[in-house]
Amino acid sequence: MLKARIAVLVSGGGTNLQALIDAQRSGILKSGTIELVISNKADAYALTRASAAGIKISIITKGDCAGTDDFEARLTRLLRENKIDLIILAGFMCILSEKFTSAFPNRIINVHPSLIPSFCGKGYYGLKVHEAALAYGVKITGATVPFVNAVPDGGKIIMQKAVAIRKCDTPEILQQRVMRQAEWVILPRAAERVCANILKEKI
Ligand code: GAR
Repeated sequence: MLKARIAVLVSGGGTNLQALIDAQRSGILKSGTIELVISNKADAYALTRASAAGIKISIITKGDCAGTDDFEARLTRLLRENKIDLIILAGFMCILSEKFTSAFPNRIINVHPSLIPSFCGKGYYGLKVHEAALAYGVKITGATVPFVNAVPDGGKIIMQKAVAIRKCDTPEILQQRVMRQAEWVILPRAAERVCANILKEKI
């Protein structure tokens, strides 16, 4: 069966990558196959998860590159060489330029740990998002999977899921609940939806 070829871009622990790998095994993600995991951090635990699943890995650090242009050019070359149809940012802590994002229109998706347009955009990533949600005092937060364009967290929303905030939440506790109840649920489902649409275009 023809499947969309997926590259997952990571920087850290890779629990969202794991959710995608598990979804591929369980058949939730059936229209796409993870061909490649790319990390901008040499020590990202996500790379261990990818290798354990038998997925090809690649490391491109900004330190090894002459600048952002060179970093993105290398990234683009790798994605083109591997004939990637869909790029999934799963805890990838780099903002990609307009030049890069416009080269892959509707072919890059991201998972963000809040209900966009709250607590998103430049400077809102990882634990900072949950710290901001708790400081503001919102009672509901969640996760969003949007397409990625030149505006950080400004692309069209594909899927969202709400998560209730509890009185005794710390940023760490909230982060875990948002991952478990929302991110790991919607990212594989959104990936499947986008891959199925890519396949329709290919036929
Ligand atoms: C996840 O919570 C993801 O939503 C967030 O970083 C974490 C990565 O965890 N991404 C962002 O904040 C992007 N703006 P993981 O490496 O275990 O998947």
